[in-house]
Amino acid sequence: MTNSTRKILVTSALPYANGSIHLGHLLEYIQTDIWVRFQKSRGHQCTYVCADDAHGTAIMLRAEKEGRSPEDQIAAVKAEHEADFAAFQIGFDNFHSTHSEENRELSAQIYTRLRDKGHIAVRSIKQAFDPEKEIFLADRYIKGDCPKCSTPDQYGDNCEACGATYSPAELKNPYSTISGATPVEKESEHYFFKLQDFDAFLKEWTRSGTLQPEIANKLAEWLDSGLQEWDISRDAPYFGFEIPDAPGKYFYVWLDAPIGYMASFKNLCDSDKGRASGLNFDDYWNVGSDAEVYHFIGKDIVNFHALFWPAMLTAAEYRTPTAVNAHGFVTVNGAKMSKSRGTFIKARTYLNHLNPTYLRYYFAAKLGSSVDDFDLNLEDFVQRANTDLVNKLVNIASRTANFVFKAGGKLSDRCAEPAMVQEFIDAGEQIAAHYEARDFGKAMKDIMALADRANEYIQEKAPWAMNKEEGRQQEVIDVCSVALNLFRQLMTYLTPVLPELAEKTGQFMNLDDLNWESRSNILLGHDINKFQPMLARAEIDKVTAILEETKTELAIENGEEPAAASNANASKESKKQDKKKKSKGPELREDGNEVIADTIEFPDFAKVDLRVACIIKADHVEGADKLLQLTLDIGNGETRNVFSGIKAAYQPEDLEGKLTIMVANLAPRKMKFGLSEGMVLAAGPGGSEIYLLEPNEGSQPGMRVM
Ligand code: MSP
Ligand code: ZN
Repeated sequence: MTNSTRKILVTSALPYANGSIHLGHLLEYIQTDIWVRFQKSRGHQCTYVCADDAHGTAIMLRAEKEGRSPEDQIAAVKAEHEADFAAFQIGFDNFHSTHSEENRELSAQIYTRLRDKGHIAVRSIKQAFDPEKEIFLADRYIKGDCPKCSTPDQYGDNCEACGATYSPAELKNPYSTISGATPVEKESEHYFFKLQDFDAFLKEWTRSGTLQPEIANKLAEWLDSGLQEWDISRDAPYFGFEIPDAPGKYFYVWLDAPIGYMASFKNLCDSDKGRASGLNFDDYWNVGSDAEVYHFIGKDIVNFHALFWPAMLTAAEYRTPTAVNAHGFVTVNGAKMSKSRGTFIKARTYLNHLNPTYLRYYFAAKLGSSVDDFDLNLEDFVQRANTDLVNKLVNIASRTANFVFKAGGKLSDRCAEPAMVQEFIDAGEQIAAHYEARDFGKAMKDIMALADRANEYIQEKAPWAMNKEEGRQQEVIDVCSVALNLFRQLMTYLTPVLPELAEKTGQFMNLDDLNWESRSNILLGHDINKFQPMLARAEIDKVTAILEETKTELAIENGEEPAAASNANASKESKKQDKKKKSKGPELREDGNEVIADTIEFPDFAKVDLRVACIIKADHVEGADKLLQLTLDIGNGETRNVFSGIKAAYQPEDLEGKLTIMVANLAPRKMKFGLSEGMVLAAGPGGSEIYLLEPNEGSQPGMRVM
């Protein structure tokens, strides 16, 4: 490595360990990964660390619901996250967890330093408390009737029915969404970080080039209105780290989350891999370090990263980040990602249908360095991937490789177009500058303009025509060798975005490495291998399938079984089952029923195989307070086992012998109590108001419903 080799540590925000990775997350991980791969390609020592953010009430409650320990819960989610990230070729150097020894030690150390310097205050505050569950309630766990219009089941900040805004204390008939109990006020001691001690430092730090201008301006508003103490403790029960000098008090998840960046890096430094790379924790984190540290985050968590975090680091005598790079939010087809529209797409659902290369490219092609939201327009996405990657890029190689391969697989030992190849090489500097500035869209534009030129060159020379003419074989090889050299330049520039294609290019062209510098030697007399197809066209049908699968996931998530969509709420708030109105979910008409869904084509409907079924057996399910287990006869001697969320509405004995309608081709779903092999159809808002469909007399089990 040369003198100009930079030491760079890069992070992406730590995803919460209570949910799956979705396309919104992926914008960030792909953006960061591209930047890291670019730095590595340039020869810098760039290290990319991340971790699961494993602490907090939500994770604790989720584990409880799943009937396992928080440790088991976060281990399962971590495995899922890691598999998703690997599939999208996110090249972390380390992926750790905030629930780790390194993080426990660093959090305790940083906290102790803050305390010893007098930056921690302790005082009692009053807070809502769930007397049944014996847990303090954050605002998001309290619902009640709107104080203005009395609509039930509203959260404590605004009413979805009348739009009124208010505080949780003003809700009428408030209840805990955890147990249903009425919250009481309770006092307890909390620990606070005195952020206001860092007012002058932060005013300076946020204006020193560490933030995008729009972010700095936004924070200036906060800073001008005066900083407040930050509540960093939570009372037991909580899943997190106990505060060293305060038994029963835990660090609030956002206190130890960013320290998780350091902990993941420390874990790497102490590993064989880290030692082999000569990584040293202090080199990167001590005050005065010559290493660079960058955090990539979404715009929603800027205050944690650009106020609390630098203040904590400074107070604890660590260096502060070189820069915090924020991005906007992903929208799909111009709207917020939505479960009911099927656009809240999980990483795994995407992977079930499409190659991640397309998404990596689309994100790169439209990303700039600003915090503007990012619209994933699904038609544009498919078109762009096909036009740019398949038609323009891969085509350069696929149209020319075979001529060379058939003639012995050796590129020409002279360069027929040295000026053009040199131009492609020279273009690398400007492209690199775009990458460095996170202007990936501009980089892609430059690269595709070069790809257009390469294609024009091939078109003009038409080696396929030349090849038919006697005595022009060498010329054919010369032209194709130029084309393949140009292709190799383009792939070098695209390696950060398309690691899988770069890998394939390496195999095809016999190149160990496509690093940035290596591009300057033109390949002459170089052996290549047979060209293998690199990338299939993206199909719009696959996008439709992703949306469909996402909607199905929602139905499943929403209730043990989507007998009526509103079972979702019934199951989430068992104590509130009798309240019919829903606070979230589909838009309602005047009659209180959901608005009619988007129009579908007949073939979409025909995919649903509805059958007349006879309920031959209905049973209670031990341990399930909403489910009945149904055994259904669907004709032809076939029976199905279905768990249905209709317990509040029917006695098992009343159902036996009744006919109903079931979806017979729904993917089976594994539940805690067994496999559910379909669903029965019912109408109604949920709870005790569920009405099972019953066909008219004469119909027989097994008949198809159309
Ligand atoms: N656990 C915290 C981060 C702690 S960092 C010390 C968190 N987790 S998250 O899972 O909610 O989000 C992880 C990252 O994904 C955040 O940077 C967030 O902004 C980003 N995104 C989550 N949804 C997103 C979109 N829909 N669009 C773009 N980015 C989004 O916040
Ligand atoms: Zn209201």
